[in-house]
Amino acid sequence: MSESAVEWPAVGLTLRVDGHEYPVPQVWIGDSLLAVLRERLDLDEPRDGCGVGECGSCLVTLDGRLAAACLVPAVAAADRDVRTPQDAAFEAAREAVEAANASPCGFCAPALTVAITDLLHRNADPGPAAVREALAGIVCRCAESGRWIEAVARAGEAGVGDAGAAGPGISDSGEMPAYVVEAGEPA
Ligand code: FES
Ligand code: FES
Repeated sequence: MSESAVEWPAVGLTLRVDGHEYPVPQVWIGDSLLAVLRERLDLDEPRDGCGVGECGSCLVTLDGRLAAACLVPAVAAADRDVRTPQDAAFEAAREAVEAANASPCGFCAPALTVAITDLLHRNADPGPAAVREALAGIVCRCAESGRWIEAVARAGEAGVGDAGAAGPGISDSGEMPAYVVEAGEPA
């Protein structure tokens, strides 16, 4: 069979994103959640960095657990709770990132807001080492780790992670997120 004759199956599915339901027809079974969020739902966030699970820029939460959206097949996210960085649960962390200038060019801000919120829900008072470890999977070219530490401190002061604070059922497992592939640090 020639390559042009190969037909990939497609399915219709419903994605629950930031509390809204989106029926999405004709999703190819190989499409990632990231591709569907950005190309079918036209969302600007999460960001698309590497597309292969190495840069951490596409962070979302899936049923309250951190996930690299480029590694999750869209069909596997059907009818589950997907929260993008644009969800209201991440607003306070976003303000802290901006106040600390922790994402100078803006590209990493979405992933940072998700990761910082997750961290503070697991650890209300993380020290610098815990912050670096939690954010190590976000490969950033222009931030300094000191700014990330300040952003976490500001987010904590703003109540992110407090009992009853807005959160999408953030993970309390304390496990390293699956997207972390190398224990790198921001410059
Ligand atoms: S886009 Fe780089 S990890 Fe997903
Ligand atoms: S904020 Fe510029 S690359 Fe990360």
